[in-house]
Amino acid sequence: MSKIKNVLVIGGSGFIGQAVCNQLAQAGHRITVPTRRYEKAKHLLPLPTCQIVEANIHDRATLGRLVTGQDVVVNLLGVLHSKPGKPYGQNFRVNHVEFPKALCAAMSKHGVKRIIHISALGVGVQNPAPSMYLRSKTDGETVVKDSSLAWTMLRPSVVFGRDDNFLNTFAKLAKLLPVIPLAGADARFQPVSVGDVAKAVMACIEDPGKETVHNTYDLVGTEIFTLKELVQLSARAVGKNPLVFGIPDAAAKLQAFLMELAPGEPLMSRDNVDSMKIDNIRTSGRPFPLPNHECLSVVAHEYLRAKHLPSDLDEFRTRAHRRD
Ligand SMILES: NC(=O)c1ccc[n+]([C@@H]2O[C@H](COP(=O)([O-])OP(=O)(O)OC[C@H]3O[C@@H](n4cnc5c(N)ncnc54)[C@H](OP(=O)(O)O)[C@@H]3O)[C@@H](O)[C@H]2O)c1
Repeated sequence: MSKIKNVLVIGGSGFIGQAVCNQLAQAGHRITVPTRRYEKAKHLLPLPTCQIVEANIHDRATLGRLVTGQDVVVNLLGVLHSKPGKPYGQNFRVNHVEFPKALCAAMSKHGVKRIIHISALGVGVQNPAPSMYLRSKTDGETVVKDSSLAWTMLRPSVVFGRDDNFLNTFAKLAKLLPVIPLAGADARFQPVSVGDVAKAVMACIEDPGKETVHNTYDLVGTEIFTLKELVQLSARAVGKNPLVFGIPDAAAKLQAFLMELAPGEPLMSRDNVDSMKIDNIRTSGRPFPLPNHECLSVVAHEYLRAKHLPSDLDEFRTRAHRRD
């Protein structure tokens, strides 16, 4: 086994972060996860080597304290939406560009050299990129690559897993709607499992030959689906067969605009529609060398059924107050 390391996982409370922290804890590494609200990271409490710290990572002094004494930093901070702006809105600028800049500066100042930065597939494919999300992710990559740190850049395609916000949303929609008009229906995706993303992060952390340093990798699965196929697959898993049809760009933008007006995080924003102008599949990028891949077509059906269909155990779960 490799040496036990101190690892700061920014965004460790999120979907991918949880999988990363699980694997880090299994390997015995000491983990620190900052969170805006302790409550949001409580699911990490069972991990014996994980410390949850309520902190504002955008505060320079706090960030300095967080990086001090760490061997590795994993940056999973990411947002999906922002108000419009040029070249991107403020939420993207703050979280995808200014934060990595501040993080690299804090790491350099406190002598922490190793960073694993989670970017996104699609960065670098088109210049300028078609969406604010991708343009801000591109600039975030540049900031990290221009630093003097030992960086590794990981670019996942859309990520699936039991708690994803992707197939689970389609499953919920299919349970509600007999007809689903879909923006970007023909856009192609090469989804990667959350477990495989976490394995890649682990491989970078435990990389004795430092082969992953100063390298950029695409993280994709072995299967390619259109968005429409993914919606249909999620619907079938929950026993539904809605009519799914693509809508033209102008209608997609209007639909997304209306969703942005609703309270809370929009299901789909106009910027998400723009992101789908380029396929989310690997083209010329270097694939991360994982020995095998989890297949969406094998595992998604099972976890969607388990999450969205009633089970014989529900009565017991309800009585024990253990239902989602
Ligand atoms: N999921 C995917 O399909 C996918 C695909 C490609 C790339 N990625 C990238 O992978 C990374 C992780 O994605 P994810 O799906 O795990 O995201 P996630 O579940 O939304 O988690 C993101 C984390 O970032 C923190 N965060 C969000 N907004 C913040 C803010 N304004 N200030 C401080 N912290 C904030 C949250 O921590 P607290 O709430 O605890 O503060 C949360 O734990 C992101 O960079 C994303 O762009 C994801």
